[in-house]
Amino acid sequence: MTAEHNLGLLSVNIAGIKMKTPVMTASGTFGFGLEYSDFVDINKIGAVVVKGTTLLSRSGNSGVRIAETPAGMLNSIGLENPGVEAFLHETLPVLAKYDVPVIVNIAGNTVEEYGELAKQLDVKGVAGLELNISCPNVKQGGIAFGTNCESAASVVRMVKKSTGLPVIVKLSPNVTDIVEMAKAVEAAGADAISLINTLLGMAIDIHNRKPILGNIVGGLSGPAVKPVAVRMVWQVAKAVKVPVIGMGGIMTAEDAVEFMLAGASAVAVGTANFVNPYATVEIADGIREYLNQQGLMQVSEIVGKVRTEEW
Ligand SMILES: Cc1cc2nc3c(=O)[nH]c(=O)nc-3n(C[C@H](O)[C@H](O)[C@H](O)COP(=O)(O)O)c2cc1C
Repeated sequence: MTAEHNLGLLSVNIAGIKMKTPVMTASGTFGFGLEYSDFVDINKIGAVVVKGTTLLSRSGNSGVRIAETPAGMLNSIGLENPGVEAFLHETLPVLAKYDVPVIVNIAGNTVEEYGELAKQLDVKGVAGLELNISCPNVKQGGIAFGTNCESAASVVRMVKKSTGLPVIVKLSPNVTDIVEMAKAVEAAGADAISLINTLLGMAIDIHNRKPILGNIVGGLSGPAVKPVAVRMVWQVAKAVKVPVIGMGGIMTAEDAVEFMLAGASAVAVGTANFVNPYATVEIADGIREYLNQQGLMQVSEIVGKVRTEEW
């Protein structure tokens, strides 16, 4: 195999976003990328998905914001971030020095906020938007946009009207029917779907009988959620035509391959970054090794190739 072939082995194109590898960072677990640049060669990452960004800066939730769980973690960071203006003027110019697509994860409390963010971020240097629809919709009693098909679709429609960038919609797993949600956002114009965001959880200190997290409840991530995530990716990938980005508990290349066999065209690594800052690059190397062992020429050859029909 020539070097050129080898370079192309891992490349993917997700809704027009060209990536050198199918391994992206999961929002909120890799800062703005720059925080990790002393450890990882950012240029070797498929795409950097930055921290959830809001219109105004947010200091996040108070009290304990992270708790370790068996095979995972609970977090209730509360979207701490410096706001879109600081991102555009301070972070983006530095990120632009790297040869890596930058995807901005956006969060709002109204449909209009998502629209405004999308408009402001439609600039050179931003490769795409990822919509975090797990946020409370303040106009509808605080119910998360991503748990109601119509609210989720209205966010997508507004964002699509406000930007020419590819729009990835990140689904919440805290729903009864993930397929219904995926179809609703696809019909509203999503260019790609990513899943899963964290599963709502809670932990209690039995000695003082208080919730461990300051926010009482938080999002569960890490290996504990992986089987739920693989199942949802499999169900969604069969039901939609747009590409699917899989995440939830990916720690190793084998985990990533599992998601791709289930139907993910790319994957994102989250909690693993806290254990091993090199995870995204090591996982891409491991996928390359797997493809070589299998005698395959392109990573797309494994997407959706789980053999359920023979089962
Ligand atoms: C500390 C922390 C912060 C997160 N912040 C965000 C965020 O700002 N926006 C978002 O869409 N997802 C956020 N997530 C969810 C992750 O991007 C990812 O969907 C989830 O953690 C599952 O992947 P993992 O098990 O590999 O971590 C966060 C997760 C963690 C652990």
